[in-house]
Amino acid sequence: MANDVPEHEPYSSKLEVPEALTFDDVLLRPKESRVEPDDADLTTQVSTNVEVSVPILSAAMDTVTESDMAVAMARHGGLGVLHRNMTIDEMVEEIGRVKSADELIIPFDSVVTADPEMSVREVDDQMAREGVGGAPVVNTNGEVLGIISSTDIRPHLEVNEDDPVTEAMTDEVITASEDIDPRAAFDLMYEHKIERVPVVDDENLLVGLVTMQGILQRREYEEAVRDEDGRLRCGVAVSPFEADRAEAADEAGADILFIDTAHAHNKNVIEGAREIASTVQADVVVGNVGTREAAAELVDFADGIKVGIGPGSICTTRVVSGAGMPQITAVAQVADVANEHDVPVIADGGIRYSGDAIKAIAAGADAVMLGSYFAGTDEAPGRVVTMNGKKYKQYRGMGSVGAMKSGDSDRYLKEEPEDDEYVPEGVEAATPYKGSLQSELHQLAGGMQSGMGYVGAGTISAFKERSEFVRVSSAGQAESHAHDVVITDEAPNYSPDSD
Ligand code: XMP
Repeated sequence: MANDVPEHEPYSSKLEVPEALTFDDVLLRPKESRVEPDDADLTTQVSTNVEVSVPILSAAMDTVTESDMAVAMARHGGLGVLHRNMTIDEMVEEIGRVKSADELIIPFDSVVTADPEMSVREVDDQMAREGVGGAPVVNTNGEVLGIISSTDIRPHLEVNEDDPVTEAMTDEVITASEDIDPRAAFDLMYEHKIERVPVVDDENLLVGLVTMQGILQRREYEEAVRDEDGRLRCGVAVSPFEADRAEAADEAGADILFIDTAHAHNKNVIEGAREIASTVQADVVVGNVGTREAAAELVDFADGIKVGIGPGSICTTRVVSGAGMPQITAVAQVADVANEHDVPVIADGGIRYSGDAIKAIAAGADAVMLGSYFAGTDEAPGRVVTMNGKKYKQYRGMGSVGAMKSGDSDRYLKEEPEDDEYVPEGVEAATPYKGSLQSELHQLAGGMQSGMGYVGAGTISAFKERSEFVRVSSAGQAESHAHDVVITDEAPNYSPDSD
């Protein structure tokens, strides 16, 4: 006899079931508003120590988030979560790519330098190979002796290619100290009409380089989500059973570790997650869960809780296992507990439209995570394929046979089968090609701001308080979509079959 079913309960009482709702079952009730959508502030907390400018995360899936996606997400105000179908070394490299993408000071190891013994030709060749337009000239101690720039000023210096680089370099070098900020660096370069400034320590030893190109790039992304050192933030998925991966991700500078399982309300998962949380510096978000009881087990150590048992577009968990929780109810249940403890909640999966995303926030989430919405963008891994004249990109569940074969099946708490007889909980699919992430994010965030405008809330926390739902009938759902017309020009944020 199962020990959690009391003997005296008749089975028929199980049929007195509570109702659980999802996105299409509800709409936001419009309210008197003094908030213009463009003024609605989407800033939110994803985890205890990480704030983002837009409440949007890209899913930790091998057809959605690698470093290109994570860089783009952070530059545009959200957060990318790197998937875990890669080796630990690959993961460390990917985290490094994100963290160094918009760095103000290029660290010493990555700076292209010239040796004073080299000839002008050798340095030119090296700079061309490395794709840089100038290089500090440093001796073997790392002391900065000068700086050599690209060939355009060379004709005025009357040096030839076989001369030592010291003949062609500028030896009165403008340098900066390690605590330089972007404004001061810009002013310094502007004043001296230079494009790069070596950063040196007290003994004039090179520690890095600031470039004008880097500064201008950073200025382009005003909304970017950065850590205290000005580097882009990123998350990374880890298993609760792989402490060494978690440690490596933490050391590589990941801002949030996402304990990535399909069912986190599991004793072994919670123990593993708790252990990891107690050893790493990074925030630890735990998921996925879908009930208040699960949330209660996590709030004392998690920096965030991720919600979603089976809502994903490529997910077959509910039909394969018979288990799941419609997403609006799942989010609300978890948020009831998590909000009491100031633990942020992330709604993960099932979001097809911007309206779904803002409904998830109304139900109590602080941020949303999406897979299919971003899988068709340029920044997602994989190439564009053409079928019947239409462009697509691959999108597959992490519980699909293909993804499990090329990674780890422990997200689904399964052993690796010896005979390749996987029991998948996801499918492999294709999703329409969508172009740049920036325009997708713009539509998503803009639609969420519209929702805030209809409710009259200028911030995410005000919106969570003020928003109310109405229940929608199936006739109401049909009325919500474009109907009785043939769409002639596709809108950038709407497709009736919600691709
Ligand atoms: P969307 O709907 O945005 O969902 O495409 C993305 C989320 O789905 C989850 N996920 C899966 N769930 N089987 C599942 O049951 C799978 O194979 C699978 N792969 C991803 C995951 O939480 C993701 O963020």
